[in-house]
Amino acid sequence: MTALIFIKPDGEKVTVEATNGATVMEVAKENDMPMLAACGGSLACATCHVIVDDVWYDKTGEISEDEEDLLDTAHGLTHTSRLCCQIKVSDELDGMVMTLPPMD
Ligand code: FES
Repeated sequence: MTALIFIKPDGEKVTVEATNGATVMEVAKENDMPMLAACGGSLACATCHVIVDDVWYDKTGEISEDEEDLLDTAHGLTHTSRLCCQIKVSDELDGMVMTLPPMD
């Protein structure tokens, strides 16, 4: 199991156990994080936006052009923003910290 740490929009820090191979979005939803993830992971909504802690960003993997285009529509975009339905959980991400932007 891999630990992921979410910081909710209200500042609460929540550590959850994640199964390798799942997407970070699936883990967030399973743990009732405040995230819409409206398209269910089909890269069509940008409501699974997370801001990855700087030191972890490089470990989250390649960003596709489609993800980049969609990210441009996300509110509060930063240089470490990702759409977390595109991040697969693995041992490498054990301890990763992400901030959830406020839901609109
Ligand atoms: S859930 Fe819609 S883009 Fe990730």
